[in-house]
Amino acid sequence: MNKIYITRKLPEAALAKIKQHCDVSIWDEEDTAVPREVLQEQLKDADGLLCLLTERIDEQLLEAAPNLKVISNMAVGYNNIDVEAATKRGIAVTNTPGVLTETTADLTFALMLATSRRLIEASDYLRQGQWKTWSPMQLTGQDIYGATLGIIGMGRIGESVAKRAKGFDMELLYYNRSRKLEAEKTYGMTYADMDTLLSQSDFIVVLTPYSPETVNLIDREQFARMKHTAVLINTARGGIVNEDALYDALTGGRIWAAGLDVFETEPLQPSHRLLKLPNVVAMPHIGSASIKTRTRMAMLAAENLILGVSGTRPLHLVNP
Ligand code: DGY
Repeated sequence: MNKIYITRKLPEAALAKIKQHCDVSIWDEEDTAVPREVLQEQLKDADGLLCLLTERIDEQLLEAAPNLKVISNMAVGYNNIDVEAATKRGIAVTNTPGVLTETTADLTFALMLATSRRLIEASDYLRQGQWKTWSPMQLTGQDIYGATLGIIGMGRIGESVAKRAKGFDMELLYYNRSRKLEAEKTYGMTYADMDTLLSQSDFIVVLTPYSPETVNLIDREQFARMKHTAVLINTARGGIVNEDALYDALTGGRIWAAGLDVFETEPLQPSHRLLKLPNVVAMPHIGSASIKTRTRMAMLAAENLILGVSGTRPLHLVNP
């Protein structure tokens, strides 16, 4: 039987499926990541690896994994894996696209609402006993209804966010490497260059994959183009938005607020200065975190893994 290493406790159904075909070892914990040295040791004789976005799978680690045939990442993003190094060694790398699209779009919209209408701040105000009376401009925010939404990165999740935005009568702009003519028609979206999108949008949603080209895509220069009332949402990857520039934009009144599910360094420490700002709504990378979706992701990752170790082409191969 092929030997598999799994880097975190998985939903039971996914684990059972893998166990039918493979000999499994697992870092059987939910709340701590597998230490690198343990992973390295386990990979010495593993044929397959099922990992999460928290594991950095680089050249050094692959060097110590002579039998590895497949790396199945339980995420749609795979910037944690050196795909080039894996490809050089003939190792298949797979991801889990499609199954998390709607759930991530829901969270993106939740962040738009929470941030623009100051939901967390208002809830804290109530719980902390600060609510003494009703007042005309108390805790007032920005409307989503009728506002302009600029989506940076028009993949599956971008389209699902656009679908939701239509229900809020939003004007839609998008920026992408290539135009999406079908989606433009379906959602009444307008393709815009980056400068136009940044300067005209009330909400700017970052949904582009992380790559060398998108690191610091939103930096000081980009914040300088935004409206003072703009709300920035990032549910893609930390590092696409430069956090120092973001902090200065938020504290200097350059933009209104930010809703963040991802950070340059994760887990974000509770002492992080962004968490001190009332105009930041921050989440611990929960974009795809519904029971149904996480179970589907685990099942798909299991399927990719089983196919990969048996030498069959996996469903979602990301190697070029
Ligand atoms: C992904 O899949 O890339 C998300 O960030 C976690 O679901």
